[in-house]
Amino acid sequence: MTNHPLKNKNIILGVTGSIASYKSIDLASKLTQLGAKVDTILTDSAQQFINPISFKSITHRQVVTNLFDTDSELAVNHVAMAEAADCIIVAPATANSIAKISHGISSDALGTTILATDAPVIIAPAMDGKMFENPATQENLAILIQRGFFVCGPEFGRMASGLVGLGRLSATQDIIQVASMILGQNSDYSQKKIVITAGGTQEDLDPVRTITNRSSGKMGFAIAEAARDRGANVTLISAPTSLSNPIGINVENIKTAIEMQKSLEIHSLDCDVLIMAAAVGDWRAKSISKTKAKKSDHTNWEIELIKNPDILSSIPNESLIKVGFAAETENLIENAQKKIINKNLNLIIGNDVSRNDIGFNSEDNEVIIINKSGEVENLPKMTKYELAHEILDRVQALLN
Ligand code: CTP
Repeated sequence: MTNHPLKNKNIILGVTGSIASYKSIDLASKLTQLGAKVDTILTDSAQQFINPISFKSITHRQVVTNLFDTDSELAVNHVAMAEAADCIIVAPATANSIAKISHGISSDALGTTILATDAPVIIAPAMDGKMFENPATQENLAILIQRGFFVCGPEFGRMASGLVGLGRLSATQDIIQVASMILGQNSDYSQKKIVITAGGTQEDLDPVRTITNRSSGKMGFAIAEAARDRGANVTLISAPTSLSNPIGINVENIKTAIEMQKSLEIHSLDCDVLIMAAAVGDWRAKSISKTKAKKSDHTNWEIELIKNPDILSSIPNESLIKVGFAAETENLIENAQKKIINKNLNLIIGNDVSRNDIGFNSEDNEVIIINKSGEVENLPKMTKYELAHEILDRVQALLN
């Protein structure tokens, strides 16, 4: 993936001894797939749970198991890895390793490397809930946070002991989001505020029924994540979706078109870019039943619908770049060209939602991008995150 902030970055993955250690193999794999160069350091305790060969087979790079290992670069220069690192991720980080790191103990390869690095360090704790809550662990973490370390997790859930509590290692995807955000923070969108809308709005008919559409929210969420990974301050105004809130993004949850408009009126005031990926319902019920409509009350239920405001048209664009989407089932170019003029947009992204392999709920999208002069650019099919970067590249050119 050309634009991913982890691409070609030197990541040191520090693995300490926890039952969650096996999950760091998945983390090493996902980081590698995103183009990161992952060197692994396993503590002695980690090696009680997992084998260095697993990491070597996935990363094809060095796996350090011993500070005095004559085969490792550390034997020549014990701070070599620390100097080359763009980011260090300790996952899982046990209570013991957090205690050692917070007190600068360099008795092993991981402690030495962390002590000698200028790179950002992410700590992903995993331990029994009581050990996590213990004031000793909490104070050690507070020391690390105060020194600029990033802490990701832990999560609430079932732990190895069988108990439920706060102590589970964060999901691989969440740790990757934190690393992406940190490594992208000084990129081309730093200092920029972007507002993005996502999902399909819902209009109530009664307390149990709504009118909505097929939007999954995936495109808007992907743009929000890509903008975050390029350093932007991102607000995501989201209609209900089944997606988890992305890390490092201010998420405003709304339901109806009117709620989306109200939230946007506030958040667009000082933003540089508005990207409206939401599928906004064009109509709402004229009256909403306060109680559940009963079958016995209606043979035919005739619902009167009234028009919702066109939110995008109502937002002035003197001081911001406005980007819209055109979801079409026919005459894609003509319809998108009309919308860019009628809604006074800088760019419009047109997609054919009648195709099953792209658009609503799929992981990929294939779109056209039209600018203010009416020029049409055809983009190939790609993932929504990749497309998000393509859109942000074109918006960046307009910001300049
Ligand atoms: N949009 C909006 N407010 C609405 C409807 C749509 O702000 N009430 C925005 C969408 O978020 C999208 C763009 O306008 O960025 C185009 O939306 P689309 O549903 O394709 O078109 P509509 O304007 O609703 O027109 P039509 O339904 O006739 O195609």
